[in-house]
Amino acid sequence: MSYRATFEAWKNDPEAFWLNAAGGIDWIEPPRKALFDRGADLYEWYADARVNGCYNAVDRHVENGRADQLAIIHDSPITGTQQKITFAELQDRVSKLAGALQAQGVTKGDRVIIYMPMVPEAIDAMLACARIGAVHSVVFGGFAANELAVRIDDCAPKAILAASCGLEPGRVVEYKPLLDGAIDMAKHKPEVCLILQREQHRCDLTPGRDIDWTTAQEAAEPADCVPVEGNHPAYILYTSGTTGAPKGVVRHTAGHLVALNWTMKNVYNVDPGDVFWAASDVGWVVGHSYICYGPLVHGNTTVVFEGKPVGTPDAGTFWRIIEEHNVRSFFTAPTAIRAVKREDPKGEFIKKYDLSCLRALYLAGERADPDTVIWAQEKLAKPVFDHWWQTESGYPMVANPAGLDDLPVKIGSPSVAMPGYDIRILDESGKELPRGTLGAIAIKLPLPPGTLPTLWNAEDRFRKSYLTTFPGYYETGDAGMMDEDGYLYIMARTDDVINVAGHRLSTGAMEEVLAGHPDVAECAVVGVSDPLKGQAPVGFVCLSKGVNRPHEEIAAECVKRVRDQIGPVAAFKQALVVDRLPKTRSGKILRATMVKIADNEEFRLPATIDDPAILEEIRAALQTIGYGGR
Ligand code: COA
Ligand code: AMP
Repeated sequence: MSYRATFEAWKNDPEAFWLNAAGGIDWIEPPRKALFDRGADLYEWYADARVNGCYNAVDRHVENGRADQLAIIHDSPITGTQQKITFAELQDRVSKLAGALQAQGVTKGDRVIIYMPMVPEAIDAMLACARIGAVHSVVFGGFAANELAVRIDDCAPKAILAASCGLEPGRVVEYKPLLDGAIDMAKHKPEVCLILQREQHRCDLTPGRDIDWTTAQEAAEPADCVPVEGNHPAYILYTSGTTGAPKGVVRHTAGHLVALNWTMKNVYNVDPGDVFWAASDVGWVVGHSYICYGPLVHGNTTVVFEGKPVGTPDAGTFWRIIEEHNVRSFFTAPTAIRAVKREDPKGEFIKKYDLSCLRALYLAGERADPDTVIWAQEKLAKPVFDHWWQTESGYPMVANPAGLDDLPVKIGSPSVAMPGYDIRILDESGKELPRGTLGAIAIKLPLPPGTLPTLWNAEDRFRKSYLTTFPGYYETGDAGMMDEDGYLYIMARTDDVINVAGHRLSTGAMEEVLAGHPDVAECAVVGVSDPLKGQAPVGFVCLSKGVNRPHEEIAAECVKRVRDQIGPVAAFKQALVVDRLPKTRSGKILRATMVKIADNEEFRLPATIDDPAILEEIRAALQTIGYGGR
């Protein structure tokens, strides 16, 4: 069926469409109904069904002839090692780890935090939770102890699964001090931590709290799959919002299994048995959906990659892995391709490998700039598909459904709405705008299966963040427009979220950290254009009266504070001390104007600006670090 026919089929009868898609999943009790309207704009999917996520990702393949097929290929150019795990082996590992968790008293509904690098055990951990109905919350390894502590307090985990270390090029990231620091800081204390000792750095275990992962796993009785309700939370994944407190996106079990399974063929065009690779991290939604659950549920082999696009050891790593492991669909962030392009502009490394197995490159996580897309198209001689989604949606909202149809690619657009997504462009008052006009991107409720039903313990915040601006719609936080053919163009965020190397970060969170500096009276953080990372944060701080220390010293302390409190992933490297910040007469900081100045773009002088002279001071400050037209 063509894309148009599929989209129409969904639009005409969403209930039938999603019940039909549910046929791709194995149920303990199949759904009799797809959508459950909980009133007041809250919806759930497949709530009357019973299912198990781990069974669908692992056991059913063992039972259905895929026992000896590879489930996971771990390729770590950082350690120079590879590991291949079949579905049968995965079942053994995961059921024992789940047994080890049960032995520690973890049961259905308990939360478990996973703080892990890119090793297969991170996938084991997620699946072990799913097996026993525990709700996992993976925290990205590049976050500092403070961020981990915030998440511990929000989801109150019974257990934490962590490794002794992660590996960044040239640097061993010791996890144990971060974990201990976070647990010290947090009010909630987990009962137990399972620690995976990696040979690159072994750590001391805290008596009475920590246990050795491998010993516990080996000693455990394998656990069976525990049936859960369709609306049982599979996981909580924290993502950046406007304030410093991250939002705990909840994912219900059944919807995410059905929707991810649907996308594997229709969007990513892989058949069961094919190798699929998403070069991301388990700490992000891409890792949840397309390193762990999506490919495994669909019977694909997934590649778990511990490395970087460049420098581990060179800009040919992606292409080496694609050839060596026979990757059919490859997914990464545009920033990774920009990094490769910068090192290897002529694509010499690409020529060294046989990429005939590769069908297409998929890009998401940030805007795919035309230069990068064109470079990849030319050098790879393969289709390059941009697609648009968010942590909240869990899978593509707008994509080029290559497994369904042969739609043209329009560079600069992630293509068309996927079934389930009735996308509208609205003006500030919520009125629909004509095609080709820029506005807020909103989605008519209900959102489809697999999308967030709420925020963890924060229904009010869920409503305020997503449902109140445009009643009857989900507010995506992105602005853009749609053309006459229904192709969407994503132009900007409408909030204070920035996107640094495909990582979603909150400038508000960074401002909270800077404001905590004893000498800082006032501050603003904005995302300026960065040729590699898309955006880079720059902080402006005004000092308290009477502070008389060298500005460089204070700026360096600000940089260190953000790294220590949010983490290296914030990539916060520039703080500027300025006398004043540009504001409107009502006191609102003119962040958007500051970004335009930094990017040396034309801007209209805001009519309500308090003192236009400040803008030149801001430009002068930015010029000292190479922005603002220098
Ligand atoms: N644990 C600890 N530290 C981490 C980390 C992790 N899991 N991931 C990143 N960091 C650190 C990096 O080492 C770096 O530290 P530094 O300031 O000491 O150099 C810092 O966080 C910033 O990381 P990053 O922004 O990723 O920059 P980079 O220079 O290391 O790499 C790219 C740049 C473009 C190669 C890299 O960002 C990349 O591969 N991006 C792909 C994007 C992606 O996977 N996005 C996920 C959504 S699809
Ligand atoms: P995250 O929740 O980390 O996946 O970030 C989601 C946000 O990243 C979106 O709301 C967009 O702002 C941005 N984003 C993701 N994919 C794209 C894309 N293909 N084009 C433009 N922006 C994107």
